[in-house]
Amino acid sequence: MGLIADIHIRNMLLAYYHKNERLFDSRPASTKYHHSWDGGLGDHIAQVMELGMGIFNVVKEQAVDMSCTLDDVLIIGFIHDLDKLDKYTNDFPGAPWKYKEGRLNFDEIVRTVHICTTDIGLVLTENQLEALSHHHGMWSNDRSSVFAYRPNDMTTLSAITHTADLISTVTFGSKKP
Ligand SMILES: [Fe+2]
Repeated sequence: MGLIADIHIRNMLLAYYHKNERLFDSRPASTKYHHSWDGGLGDHIAQVMELGMGIFNVVKEQAVDMSCTLDDVLIIGFIHDLDKLDKYTNDFPGAPWKYKEGRLNFDEIVRTVHICTTDIGLVLTENQLEALSHHHGMWSNDRSSVFAYRPNDMTTLSAITHTADLISTVTFGSKKP
């Protein structure tokens, strides 16, 4: 987070993080698919930011037009799963996590944008919104059918975010670091 060049945005994100640090350190990133341990959400977000930064630095060596900045990558990496801070619950400490009542009725992207604007004060750019919407790649809401999936529709930012998210999920998602 300290590498975000925009001081105003960095301070907004840091303030939000410190205000909710207990949740980042205690909530899972899913009930069973990846990072399903206490604090898995904080671990996952840190990995997506770090992986995204590494991928960004490799890609920018070759790309003619990156169409995104390192700030974009770090901001989206931090916010992409914030809806999960208040998505799961368990019956007692150490018990398996489950969805909170009614939470499956929420659109996760809409809720994350709501958190950004209301709780953080962050207005996402159009490029950042696109990356947030499509960070699940072929599993994104409007790409739920593999026949609708067209990788070239994604931007560099959404491709970097999706790749970092996928590597974190698949490679690091089953074992607590
Ligand atoms: Fe994620």
